[in-house]
Amino acid sequence: MMKDHHVYLDYAASTPVDSRVVESMLPYFSQIYGNSSSAHHHGRQAEAALERARERVAGALNCMPEEIVFTSCGSESDNLALRGAALAAHQQRNAKRILITPVEHHAVSHTAAQLQELLGFEVEFMPVDAHGMLQVEQAARMLNLDTALVSAIYANNEIGTINPIAELGRLCRERGIPFHSDAVQAGAYLPLDVQKLNVDLMSLGAHKFYGPKGVGVLYIRRGTSLLPHLTGGSQEMGLRAGTHNIPYIVGLAEALTLAQSEREARGQTLRALRDELIHQVLTHIPDASLTGHPQERLPNHASFVFAGVDGNKLLIALDIEGFSCSSGSACKTGDPKPSGVLLALGLPPAVALGSLRITLGSNTTAADLERLIPVLVGTVERLRQLENASPVA
Ligand SMILES: Cc1ncc(COP(=O)(O)O)c(C=O)c1O
Repeated sequence: MMKDHHVYLDYAASTPVDSRVVESMLPYFSQIYGNSSSAHHHGRQAEAALERARERVAGALNCMPEEIVFTSCGSESDNLALRGAALAAHQQRNAKRILITPVEHHAVSHTAAQLQELLGFEVEFMPVDAHGMLQVEQAARMLNLDTALVSAIYANNEIGTINPIAELGRLCRERGIPFHSDAVQAGAYLPLDVQKLNVDLMSLGAHKFYGPKGVGVLYIRRGTSLLPHLTGGSQEMGLRAGTHNIPYIVGLAEALTLAQSEREARGQTLRALRDELIHQVLTHIPDASLTGHPQERLPNHASFVFAGVDGNKLLIALDIEGFSCSSGSACKTGDPKPSGVLLALGLPPAVALGSLRITLGSNTTAADLERLIPVLVGTVERLRQLENASPVA
């Protein structure tokens, strides 16, 4: 039976929509409902809301409004960036190589794999260290004239590590190679100034920063060549056809503005709670390790591996005890294979299977985490005992 007070500790998977964001969206469902492409009064009203939202997003990213493309989610932004830039680079300069890291979200890695399998691109992996941190100097040596596109995740969803993307971006810029970063997990907690980050393409999804699900952004630096991936009408500079989802776009702009203006305060509160959580887990659970970088990590993010524990069983047991956590990314839940991200850190597959991700957010309290610790300690111990007692097959 589920507990009455079920605690949500999976903010990297999704966040509740901020009430101020809900408020901003409401008029656009049934009062201002025209199609932003229509030339009449109602269409112009919707278009005004769209362009205002675009300006607000551009303000948050320090770019021009016409460099903002609205999409349906972070995955779509990643798809448009990778496929669009790779196809354009191939068409214009016959470039074939795509460089990514081995710790990308599937929205990037599977898109790159498809480009390799179907269209003959060559995907190569830039090295990361045992914390999942990109090794920029080694990556720099991999850049050449045949490189169509480089993509590196800004902050990792599974292990929280923050990559030095500005450094890699600078090296790509010097060589005229388009540089994309998946910033989907960064939106709530990290600076997003695209000039300082040296990105040409950057993906965001609203539901990771207290906005609605089903809407995202792709920043596209002026002059970056991209082929469209949704063809049809001329919306979004011809790169992404489809009638605009005005309430969600308005909500995204409000959520992003709030996230960036409240970023430091939110991060500070969560970092203190998160540090104490990590300390308690590593102190009270034997054979527990933190995954990802100990310092250079998202302030709300704690991730571990527990040797000799089945991560899926751990998640189920915690859920029964009243805690919603994750083993890595929401997309992987229920998958018995060890995570490719954890394997890329050099963890043995058996250890990688014992992963747990705890991500904090707006409703997390110290009392929630105090309640979690003894439950987690007891559950890990019990699962280890069961594992040891089970007959060898
Ligand atoms: C790093 C990263 N990229 C991309 C995505 C996909 O975003 P969306 O759920 O908006 O499609 C996620 C979602 O978990 C993510 O964490």
